[in-house]
Amino acid sequence: MELKRFEALATQNAHSDRSRPYGESERRVLSHEGFRRAHAEISSWPGYGETPLIDLKGLAQQLDVGKVFYKDEGQRLGLKSFKAIGGAYAVLVILQEYLAAQGITDRVTAGDLIAGKHRALVQQVIVAAATDGNHGRSVAWGAQLFGCQCVIYLHAHVSRARESEIARFGARIVRVKGHYDDSVLACAADCAANGWHLAGDTSNDPGAHVPALIMQGYTLIADEIIGQLENGKPTHVFVQAGVGGLAAAIAAHYWELLGAERPTIVVVEPQRANCVFRSIAAGRPTQVPGDTNTVMACLAAGEVSAPAWVIMRHAVDSVIALPEEAAAEAMRLLASGVAGDPPIVAGESGCAATAGLIAAALDPKLRDLLGIDTQSRIVAIGSEGATDEETYQRIVGRASESVAA
Ligand SMILES: Cc1ncc(COP(=O)(O)O)c(C=O)c1O
Repeated sequence: MELKRFEALATQNAHSDRSRPYGESERRVLSHEGFRRAHAEISSWPGYGETPLIDLKGLAQQLDVGKVFYKDEGQRLGLKSFKAIGGAYAVLVILQEYLAAQGITDRVTAGDLIAGKHRALVQQVIVAAATDGNHGRSVAWGAQLFGCQCVIYLHAHVSRARESEIARFGARIVRVKGHYDDSVLACAADCAANGWHLAGDTSNDPGAHVPALIMQGYTLIADEIIGQLENGKPTHVFVQAGVGGLAAAIAAHYWELLGAERPTIVVVEPQRANCVFRSIAAGRPTQVPGDTNTVMACLAAGEVSAPAWVIMRHAVDSVIALPEEAAAEAMRLLASGVAGDPPIVAGESGCAATAGLIAAALDPKLRDLLGIDTQSRIVAIGSEGATDEETYQRIVGRASESVAA
């Protein structure tokens, strides 16, 4: 399949600063200590394994770069997206903290809760979250695994297929009129009114505890990549953003561990939901006015998460905003494999980082801006597989199962 060129918009971060050490304000959100705690818990869960880092030699050749690696989060814990290690981790910590507040002084592990220890107390807890799909699936899965109740808020544009993927883990579904940001507000209001535990992945409070826990779960992805790459370090990481939690987690882990030697972080967004792009360009959180509906359904956020912004404001190097058609094209391209590359199942949002990489590497001005050359070793985060099978088949023209076979 020939690579198509798309007109992508790019902005550079005037505040990214390699000489700046990872500081206290960043460490209050994400830290190596927090990573170690998250890793100890998450790696003990049933079914946990590192997701593959796939060497795409054909794509690298066509883009005239040294290496392209695809981190396939479609393989994460059977939930088909990276979100599996964020929301469910927050549910676990919420339950641990709840039990501690009830006077349980022994440390309670994930294994204890899965085995049904403290079930009478745990099953009274209700966790709730708003979602475009994948975060809600993770929270619902975690609630079922650890034994508490769950309510998930979906806005009007979330597909029925995504709804049933969440409901199958026993969560109660609440439909909210409007967009993602409306569902976030409705969920927060109901949590406050009912005494439920909010397991949201976004907040306008930079010190918010739960979104930080969720991002801390995501830092495992960056750490796995370090272990999977021969010399441990990519030159560039392309990562897609909704509210920015994933991008912040990846950027923070490399910044804290590698300092000035960290890779260039390129965030990729839909042009229709470009809150990180606008915020980086303005130097402060900036909302997208109006409709953020996009085919990249899980990236349809109008506002950055404040805890993620604490990291992103200095750690994101550039942002690329994609036209709608770029995502569908990248899904088809990954499904067919470029010049002998293995076929990969990537959903509408999962392929966005690769779509951004292709748009940037084929554009001489963007190559220059991002410092991409024939020696670059680039990682593209594949954040999901076919999390909405109906949409996948409509865009790619065949079932995801037949692609991976
Ligand atoms: C598949 C996928 N990719 C990327 C993202 C973006 O993550 P964040 O909202 O943390 O920026 C999401 C968020 O739901 C997602 O589901």
